[in-house]
Amino acid sequence: MAPKKQLNPLSPEFVHDFLAHAEASNLKRTLRRMTPLSPRKVICDGRKCLNFSSNDYMGLTFHPALKETAIEWIGRYGSGSGASRLVSGTIDAYLELEHEIAEWKHSEAAIVLGSGYMANVGLIPALADRKAVIFADKLNHASLNAGCQLSGARFIRYQHNDMEHLRKMIALNADNPVKIIISDTVFSMDGDIADPEALARIAHDNDCLLYLDDAHATGVFGEHGSGLAESSSAHIIMSTFSKGMGAYGACAVCSDEMKNYLINRCGSFIYSTALPPGVCGSLYAAVKLMRTEEMAEARRRLLANVDVFRNAMHAAGLDTGGSSTQIVPVIIGSADKALRISSRLFNDGILAVAIRPPTVPVGKARIRISLNACHTTEDIAFLIEKLIAAVRAED
Ligand SMILES: Cc1ncc(COP(=O)(O)O)c(C=O)c1O
Repeated sequence: MAPKKQLNPLSPEFVHDFLAHAEASNLKRTLRRMTPLSPRKVICDGRKCLNFSSNDYMGLTFHPALKETAIEWIGRYGSGSGASRLVSGTIDAYLELEHEIAEWKHSEAAIVLGSGYMANVGLIPALADRKAVIFADKLNHASLNAGCQLSGARFIRYQHNDMEHLRKMIALNADNPVKIIISDTVFSMDGDIADPEALARIAHDNDCLLYLDDAHATGVFGEHGSGLAESSSAHIIMSTFSKGMGAYGACAVCSDEMKNYLINRCGSFIYSTALPPGVCGSLYAAVKLMRTEEMAEARRRLLANVDVFRNAMHAAGLDTGGSSTQIVPVIIGSADKALRISSRLFNDGILAVAIRPPTVPVGKARIRISLNACHTTEDIAFLIEKLIAAVRAED
């Protein structure tokens, strides 16, 4: 995306050229002014829209239990946590939160971290150094790739979900004693899923550590929304709390011993201030909610909406790639066409962002639809009608 010039971000000329080039290629990113009204609706740049761009899959961001517990914990513990947990101590309620997470995810232990991004860039370098080799799915999230690069390990990307290619890459590095397989469970821009059991088998057969990122499955899939990685024997499962859990932050679930190791080795845990009490209060409420009938019903509603939407896209001859989850990309092709469709939808009162390179490959720009449990049948019908019309207008 950058013009081919020597990288010198301190030079105003470089910054200007970079932005001009991004703009000319329809790849410039800008911030839009937004006011959330509910999990379904936002005011964006002054226009009231149905929101199909948020990862608040379970619609929990406005749930009374999350809001009230956040306020209660702020009242009890204050607005900030003051320091890293290793410096000022761990607020007792945070230990209770980790206990609840570990129980919910049927794991020995859980450790809460600042965000999904912080988790991946902290955990992976704690597990791998220059002598290690990492096998990573080609479509893994950018934060996983950043963690792999930061670790200094040999970083091999296998073809997306291609277990044969993974086995081949492992065989070529069989003599390396430290081998780690890393994969998303739900891929964030394609909405398709990995096969955690197959990955666990390969890890077991080849003496690899398995690290799974369950960001987009947490809250949505698995028993009580505990994710897709749970039934595998992954050594570490990272989950974010910013999406299906309606708040912010992340956790890793692992063995007790691994947790103690991470407390001593994970840079983003050791050197960063603990999450604020309000956020942890919301998380505590979200974890408690996961096991309720209310959430089971919300999951059924969400997945039923997903089926209706995806079937309608297929019936209209639109390409949703390998999506089998609440993330449904409608693949358009060029970035400018995707932008025009997104802007047409915006004029119709639908927020559905165009995802462009470098986030997705050139020629694979898309409208990324993410559905949530609060969308109504009418919302989905409206989206289907307007999206098909917007695509047809480009034909
Ligand atoms: C697969 C995956 N992992 C990690 C993250 C980062 O999580 P967070 O937004 O909590 O930093 C994301 C965010 O989109 C993601 O899609």
